[in-house]
Amino acid sequence: MSSDASSELVEAGAPRSRSARKRHALELFRGLPRRYDLLAAALSFGQDPRWRRALVRGVGPAPGERVLDVATGTGLVAAELLRQSGCSVVAVDQSAEMLDAARARFRQYPPSGDGARASRPPAVQLIEAEAEKLPFADGSFDALTFTYLLRYVDDPRATMRELARVLRPGGRIASLEFGVPPWGPARAAWRAYTAVGLPILARLVSRQWGEVGRFLGPSIASFYEQHPVQRIADYWREAGLQHVRVRRMSLGGGILMFATRAGNASPGGGRANAARAHAGDV
Ligand SMILES: C[S@@+](CC[C@H](N)C(=O)[O-])C[C@H]1O[C@@H](n2cnc3c(N)ncnc32)[C@H](O)[C@@H]1O
Repeated sequence: MSSDASSELVEAGAPRSRSARKRHALELFRGLPRRYDLLAAALSFGQDPRWRRALVRGVGPAPGERVLDVATGTGLVAAELLRQSGCSVVAVDQSAEMLDAARARFRQYPPSGDGARASRPPAVQLIEAEAEKLPFADGSFDALTFTYLLRYVDDPRATMRELARVLRPGGRIASLEFGVPPWGPARAAWRAYTAVGLPILARLVSRQWGEVGRFLGPSIASFYEQHPVQRIADYWREAGLQHVRVRRMSLGGGILMFATRAGNASPGGGRANAARAHAGDV
């Protein structure tokens, strides 16, 4: 466990038997933390920082709330949660290497010059754990975010149940995932870019990023063939989430989803309503 003032790293649970999909995800992200932030932005035409900001605005973290960020990677969403509110964040990922990068990020948080830093309790707790089996009691969190996760799990429906389990009744949940643009010309451009441009660009950076560049387009397309957005919304509802809303951004290249866990809402839940003005109920 790190003794850092602003974050701590905890390992949860013993390794379980791993599917081919999980082994691939663990291997894929082992070599990516370096330059991840810059390249993730570059490979999405500069769009995904904007998507992350919209995700966090939509989930509406309030001061004093406890928010779980699942598949936190290098901690970009967790950092945005802290930037937009005075909530505390628990950030989970199954990759030790990605969490190392997140820990380096939060060693600097809050930014130097903040006189209150030394006296503050840890703002972020980093935990090595799997989304499929979260090491938390039912209803532990006021809000939950997850980004680019469901393509890497064997059973998205079961994973949604697990994510909803740790959210308190009335708590808010939001996700971000790449999408395939529904409008014909945009879809054709997306296909050409993911089939040709992206693999070439990514390979220029490194062999490992080249693998990501080749993998990303087919991974996104086959995910939605098996799990169309409407069906994913059904998984959310079956998990006990209500008011499921979908917002497509950048012609559908990014898909945000928002919902609330069934049960009594708390006063902190109000800010999430801002997202409803932009997102369609499905
Ligand atoms: C593309 S990265 C996204 C990271 C971050 N959310 C962001 O927005 O930049 C996907 C992350 O999901 C993590 N991941 C994949 N499957 C997971 C699982 N089953 N449980 C926890 N983390 C997982 C990977 O280790 C990786 O850090």
